[in-house]
Amino acid sequence: MSTFADRFAGRLDGQTVLVTGAKGGIGYETARGAGNSGATVLVHARRADAARQAVEHLTRASNGEGGYVAVAGDLGSLAGVRALVDAVRQISPGGLNGLVNNAGAAFSSRALSPDGYERTIAINHVALAALTDGVRDLLRKGADTIATPSRVVNMTAVIEARGNLVEDWSRPGKFKQIQAYGDAKLLALMYTYALARRHEGDGLTFNAVSPGAVKTTLGSTAGGPFKVIQAVTNPFIGPPEKGSRGCVRLLADPELASATGGYYSSARLKKSSEKSRDRDAQDRVYEKTAEELGISR
Ligand SMILES: NC(=O)c1ccc[n+]([C@@H]2O[C@H](COP(=O)([O-])OP(=O)(O)OC[C@H]3O[C@@H](n4cnc5c(N)ncnc54)[C@H](OP(=O)(O)O)[C@@H]3O)[C@@H](O)[C@H]2O)c1
Repeated sequence: MSTFADRFAGRLDGQTVLVTGAKGGIGYETARGAGNSGATVLVHARRADAARQAVEHLTRASNGEGGYVAVAGDLGSLAGVRALVDAVRQISPGGLNGLVNNAGAAFSSRALSPDGYERTIAINHVALAALTDGVRDLLRKGADTIATPSRVVNMTAVIEARGNLVEDWSRPGKFKQIQAYGDAKLLALMYTYALARRHEGDGLTFNAVSPGAVKTTLGSTAGGPFKVIQAVTNPFIGPPEKGSRGCVRLLADPELASATGGYYSSARLKKSSEKSRDRDAQDRVYEKTAEELGISR
């Protein structure tokens, strides 16, 4: 059966890409699409056994054009991100050609990560920024090797439009799950735009994807209102493969080889919320993120 990813057969031959949160859901399907396009995919999961199991499934479910390698790390802490960066360095010293920051989560109550960030912000924004920075040199190396920009794809959500810019990333006060999720996805999106402008023309591209409403375990894992909404909408929403199309296209479509600073929904370039497109605010998000994480400007 022909799939969306068949359009990109062979487009990632010889390339290495890292997909986070790939043990199931959209990340798994993104890994499968990239592998079917010829890539060696570093398949990330929180735990090593889950990553190995995903690799086994992917190997059976794919067309054999690419390959899969398991990597692990808990992205809920900066120590976990560093562990993942170290593992990626060991496995792929020659560099990376793509990174999909897919891992994400929502929570039904407020708690802080070991680094003092509210968990929704820690996983959906802080980990994304820290991982991207941690492998930045590998992405540059990958771009130099094939003389084509390395592509970074960051997962956001349509609910970014209801997000507010949170200044205090410990999110003190009353916790509302959906608001916290929207706020974190807005941060990730605005950071993506800021990175795209900063790296224009230097071998790295940055784009954001909103996968639409997709039937995964995100809601049931999150609990709270998320679980209820997902249970009600599940019969009417798309499968993970559909949700992965924006990521696969951004990794593999030759037409997007130098496209940067875009927001893709249903695998098409769209406009995100007006507030997310405010450049001064994007710069503030960038500066705060860089300061928090010690990222060199
Ligand atoms: N499904 C939708 O309708 C929808 C809509 C908009 C945006 N999104 C976004 O799409 C992305 C993929 O979500 P999905 O729907 O495919 O749900 P999913 O299957 O639950 O995928 C999320 C992945 O992130 C991983 N993850 C969460 N916390 C982690 C941590 N601390 N360390 C390492 N990995 C962690 C999860 O691993 P564990 O299972 O080990 O926690 C899981 O593999 C997320 O960024 C989500 O916010 C989804």
